[in-house]
Amino acid sequence: SIDISTFMKQTGYTALDQGFVNTASTRSAITYIDGDRGILRYRGYAIEDVAANSTYLEVAWLLIYGEIPSASQLEEFDEKIRRHTLLHEDLRRFFDALPHSAHPMSVLSSAVSALSTYYEDSHDVRDPEHVELSTIRLLAKLPVIAAYAHKKSLGQALLYPDNSLSFVDNFLKLNFGNMAEDYEVNPVLSKALDRLLILHEDHEQNASTSTVRLVGSTEANIFASISAGINALYGPLHGGANEAVLKMLGEIQQSGEGVQKFVERVKRKEEGVRLMGFGHRVYKSFDPRARLVKESADEVLADLGVSDPLLDIARELEEVALADDYFISRKLYPNVDFYTGVIYKAMGFPPRMFTVLFAIGRLPGWIANWREMNEDPNTKIGRPQQLYTGPETRAWPQR
Ligand code: ACO
Repeated sequence: SIDISTFMKQTGYTALDQGFVNTASTRSAITYIDGDRGILRYRGYAIEDVAANSTYLEVAWLLIYGEIPSASQLEEFDEKIRRHTLLHEDLRRFFDALPHSAHPMSVLSSAVSALSTYYEDSHDVRDPEHVELSTIRLLAKLPVIAAYAHKKSLGQALLYPDNSLSFVDNFLKLNFGNMAEDYEVNPVLSKALDRLLILHEDHEQNASTSTVRLVGSTEANIFASISAGINALYGPLHGGANEAVLKMLGEIQQSGEGVQKFVERVKRKEEGVRLMGFGHRVYKSFDPRARLVKESADEVLADLGVSDPLLDIARELEEVALADDYFISRKLYPNVDFYTGVIYKAMGFPPRMFTVLFAIGRLPGWIANWREMNEDPNTKIGRPQQLYTGPETRAWPQR
């Protein structure tokens, strides 16, 4: 037997698969999805079990190294990450060079790209020690960069990380603490955020992960590859959907048009309007992450004592859409982004930070995929073909 690419090469055919709807770009042992049955597994473990029993760092280890860590492995990993949270002072000043109105996703990708200027050893992608060090640096520094992007947008002072705190608690303090007062972490908030991050940790060959792999296939360093992945995540059809959902819910609330009327506009495809947070390239029955997020939304809002009319609008939208033939026939269900925004808002994050939170969640998956790609002897530089549709050869006009 020969693989399809060898067959096509030998027979002179080129397959056109716009959006890679039916083309595998790689083999991978990290994450399994069965979109028809709503199944998601990290390294063979069901997402429901992972989310109920683990922590962000434990899942990061599982994704990157393939097994659940022992207690001592996890402790050592956590300790190493705590030791690498500080940003170089010059990089702290990097934030001053950007306008305070900058979208935090742009700040995030720029700062991650800048990390490779500080860590030249990351350019040696064949050296496992350097890859390991870059992995730790990324996991440790991305949340700090993210919190600085948030603080910068508020015009507030950037705090130093507090390495006595756990990963998530440190992140919350960097975002919501200030220099004048002590910050007490709310354990409900901490647990809920940890769970949401876990649900985002990997999702096989989505647009941002494929971008990380494509850039990495050129032997670009991991910081450059992940910075590119962050930019791919930024778009509203991918990670940017969580911000777009909240905007949509707010607009429905403000316009007073009601859910039913909005859904009618979606069905008429008025000005390309879509029900954000609905639909998925792979999930065609339900998104298992969305179910877990919906449970969290109820718990977190109840625990924080927040009642948000936007949650009621979201619930009504879901109910109306799931009973409507337009959505049923197209197999459109709420995806992971549908309810996350409502939770992040209740936690105190501004909408522009929502996709940044997704990026922190997805980081371990990007790292695991980059490393799998980098270690695979069959990796080739990613280089799709095209079907040319321009003019035949033309003579340059005589002037
Ligand atoms: N609202 C209304 N109609 C939709 C939606 C939606 N959210 N999503 C798809 N459709 C319709 C399309 O208009 C199309 O209808 P048609 O056959 O009449 O033309 C049909 O469903 C198929 O849509 P495609 O765009 O071909 O589906 P695709 O698999 O390419 O897109 C995507 C998947 C991008 C996620 C899409 O469903 C979408 O735009 N959703 C809204 C944005 C969103 O929530 N993105 C987050 C995805 S999850 C993540 O990245 C973490």
